[in-house]
Amino acid sequence: MQIDILTLFPEMFDGVLSASMIGRARANGLLDIRVHNIRDYTDNKHKKADDYPFGGGAGLVMMVQPIYDCMDAVLEGGNARRILLTPRGRTLNQKIARELSCEDRLVLLCGHYEGVDERVMNIIDDEISIGDYVLTGGELPAMVLLDCVSRLIPGVLGSEESAADESFSDDLLEYPQYTRPANFRGMEVPEILLNGHHAKIQAWRQEQARLKTALNRPDLLREDTDKGETIEAPDDAWL
Ligand code: ADE
Repeated sequence: MQIDILTLFPEMFDGVLSASMIGRARANGLLDIRVHNIRDYTDNKHKKADDYPFGGGAGLVMMVQPIYDCMDAVLEGGNARRILLTPRGRTLNQKIARELSCEDRLVLLCGHYEGVDERVMNIIDDEISIGDYVLTGGELPAMVLLDCVSRLIPGVLGSEESAADESFSDDLLEYPQYTRPANFRGMEVPEILLNGHHAKIQAWRQEQARLKTALNRPDLLREDTDKGETIEAPDDAWL
């Protein structure tokens, strides 16, 4: 997959693009990520990319011209799904991430300041937010989107299983996990995980996932609740 990022702060991406799974996926040729500085496309001598809003009001608005020219240059290499990161967008979730992971090419436009000139919407396919809070810009949201979409691309994760058997893959949060030692400062790993009985372990994990979800994110179980099912955590639940 090719992902082009349009930003006023390209240096913010350095660490994320070179480290961990994304760094490895780029080295392996699974991900082709290119970061473009919108300021390089300004047509004024001060390289100004933002200006005061018509009609007044606080803050600066990102100008339409540099964004259009940057997008034109980037799309010369072929069409792509163009996404603006903005708190105004639909909220990113695992389903949207899965959908985006099937695209050949994404362009991520990072909004900044008080927003972008509304005419930019004419060259945008989708507006995405990463949650109901306001950040200083779309760079961190672009990194979040990049990370959660990339790990769904076959080959990016070490084992295909880890993408399938996890929080949200079946609308449940992930069950508790343990590794050695079996006893740490008196805290024991649940006996069932040590006895190797596969079916019992699966059943335990499923139950724990449901309990965790009921406690932390009951909204994810709403469909079950509508069917009249209620879930109560037993006293000995590993939550
Ligand atoms: N820009 C600022 N806040 C944002 C958010 N929550 N999601 C996406 N883009 C943003």
